[in-house]
Amino acid sequence: MSLTNTALLKVENLGVRFLMKSNMLLGKKTYLYAVDDVSFEIQRGETLAIVGESGSGKTTAALAAARLVKAYTGKITLDNTDMLQIQKEKLRQARTKVQFIFQDPYSSLNPRLRAEEIVKEPLNSLTNFSSQKKQTLVNDLFAAVGLRPEQQRLFPHQFSGGQRQRIGIARALATQPELIICDEPVSALDVAVQAQILNLLRELQSKFELTYLFISHDLGVVQHMCDQIAVMYMGKIVEYADRLSLFNSPLHPYTSALLSAIPSVDQKRRENTKRILIPGDPPDPINPPKGCRFANRCPVAKDICFQKEPKLQNTKDNHRVACHLVDETAVSPLKHLL
Ligand SMILES: Nc1ncnc2c1ncn2[C@@H]1O[C@H](COP(=O)(O)OP(=O)(O)OP(=O)(O)O)[C@@H](O)[C@H]1O
Ligand code: SF4
Ligand SMILES: [Mg+2]
Repeated sequence: MSLTNTALLKVENLGVRFLMKSNMLLGKKTYLYAVDDVSFEIQRGETLAIVGESGSGKTTAALAAARLVKAYTGKITLDNTDMLQIQKEKLRQARTKVQFIFQDPYSSLNPRLRAEEIVKEPLNSLTNFSSQKKQTLVNDLFAAVGLRPEQQRLFPHQFSGGQRQRIGIARALATQPELIICDEPVSALDVAVQAQILNLLRELQSKFELTYLFISHDLGVVQHMCDQIAVMYMGKIVEYADRLSLFNSPLHPYTSALLSAIPSVDQKRRENTKRILIPGDPPDPINPPKGCRFANRCPVAKDICFQKEPKLQNTKDNHRVACHLVDETAVSPLKHLL
């Protein structure tokens, strides 16, 4: 995937680490490398999904992209601004272009504020608009996310989970950001409500020409939602492809396992899909193995997998994968199991 100029967000070789232990006497520091040499980009008006299990570094990568956690290495370009080189007012300005929608709308909404105040909050802190203009915007936002005008006076606990997420979405849209980072926005909701919120996000995307970074542990959730998908495992991107390519011909064994776990409504597909179980847990992230990080759980691991780390490589146009057993012919090493 070539880095092009139309990308709204470009992340290159990003690294985020957290200090775990510091031994002053030995001058030794131990880090957890939560995001390790991660690169991705999102074109304007498109959606990139980052998918992976808990602890794989999805949230940390997104927070670092908005400079809400510190990157120790890499480059982040948002709307042609080098995010790691700007400070103070310029940084504040750049940050207004990015807003977050979180998993649990209940804990991310202030319980003591009425819904209208919650949606108005970012307008108060980031704009100089008059009270009247702010109120007009709030009215429009409530309508856009499918809430009734009289619901503006209610408190968060007086809404259902799906409605609370609608308030979270209205708040995220208030300052007219260009990039919305949706961090597991439907994981806490019932399946039927999930579909409504995903539809709403899609509608808003085309209406306001939004760009989404959409984080989920579930490939099923992103299958109708994204243009590109990056699969993360233990801080690394292991596969990166456009949606159709990834769903139709997954190459990394971890991706195949995630895909096989999606319940299909299509009976034929259900009968033809074998569930690939991945045993065990990921290794200790503070002390990752020297070879492939997935090797201890991979059903087709070979000796080389335990010795050498596979690099993310382009196998064919728009499909990258980090696996020793995938060559340029781009055949899945799990083909015989599927
Ligand atoms: N502030 C922090 N201090 C120390 N370690 C952290 C911190 N934030 C995250 N981590 C660690 O970094 C790794 C990546 O965490 P992150 O929250 O980004 O994962 P995630 O993919 O978003 O997981 P989840 O699906 O559970 O939200 C984990 O091992 C986590 O424990
Ligand atoms: S490099 Fe080896 S262990 Fe890693 S995913 Fe590929 S086959 Fe499995
Ligand atoms: Mg997370």
